Amino acid sequence: MNISLPETLTWQNEHLRLLDQRQLPQETAYLDINTLDDAWHAIQTLTVRGAPAIGVAAAYALAESMRDVASDNFVTQLKENAEYLKSARPTAVNLAWATNRLVELGTDQPSYAALVEEAEQIHAADLNICQSIGKHGATLIQPGANLLTHCNAGSLAVSRFGTATAPMYYQRNAGVPFHVYVDETRPLYQGARLTAWELEQAGIDVTLICDNMAATVMATKGVDLVIVGTDRVTANGDVVNKIGTLNLAVLCQHFGVPFYVACPSSTFDAHTPSGDQVVIEERAADEVRQQHAAQVNVYNPAFDVTPNSLVTGIITEYGIAHDNVELRKLLAG
Ligand code: MRU
Repeated sequence: MNISLPETLTWQNEHLRLLDQRQLPQETAYLDINTLDDAWHAIQTLTVRGAPAIGVAAAYALAESMRDVASDNFVTQLKENAEYLKSARPTAVNLAWATNRLVELGTDQPSYAALVEEAEQIHAADLNICQSIGKHGATLIQPGANLLTHCNAGSLAVSRFGTATAPMYYQRNAGVPFHVYVDETRPLYQGARLTAWELEQAGIDVTLICDNMAATVMATKGVDLVIVGTDRVTANGDVVNKIGTLNLAVLCQHFGVPFYVACPSSTFDAHTPSGDQVVIEERAADEVRQQHAAQVNVYNPAFDVTPNSLVTGIITEYGIAHDNVELRKLLAG
């Protein structure tokens, strides 16, 4: 696959730089991450966002934070730094997955170089995983298909190609014609600012819609397939993703549209039995109020839980699973 989009993050000369996604699509600016606090704030403020990208960024930031730590204090400090980074955002399991991987390794091999190598491996693997998701998911996109997606599970949310968008990039490269509706994704507009922009840059036929138009689009225009990403899939197959995903899944059931979720195996959380046990991040009221409603009370959950019964299938780097039995088999290899 081949797309020309700015890199979500870079690790050069032992230093992490993040594409500042808050400024997209107007500005392509990078932010230097010099301290652990810088990394925490970048994750919390959505400078870097999307579950896999948060994981990769946290891995590099954690490694970088250990550069000058003395060996007698190494493991204690590593664990403390990891806990701090994890507290930046509670819902995407990739953040805990990546930092736990470094803590495990650093406990065995307490060295900065070993941590950097592990972070580099997580980064490189993410790229390959997205390509595999693209290849498997592409089989779902027939010529002339009308797709719909939500939020940004695109190239910007991973190291490259995305999860939900990877099958789209794959088919675009193969010359298959199709069209994608993109929900704008209030309150932070990841769909409008990031996904619509990404897909258009890649030459894909895109139409932006407000979130509350999805039902009408399904009723009047016809949608063949919905693909979204996810921040966590729990042991029973419930899907935690950007607020508004549940609305789409309910609509899909009503209109008989297949509802697919694309994610790497690192997004599976076998330790949490079901979606109602996941901590759903609540964000600041002003994100919803914006300039419209000065002091009214606000409820602003950043994610919702789609029950497994509404999910047609999950596209992973190993293939597509249509139920939990197939999913367990795929994950077991
Ligand atoms: O709050 P965000 O922008 O980090 O939310 C991102 C999403 O909900 C994505 O769909 C999810 O992280 C998957 S990214 C491949």
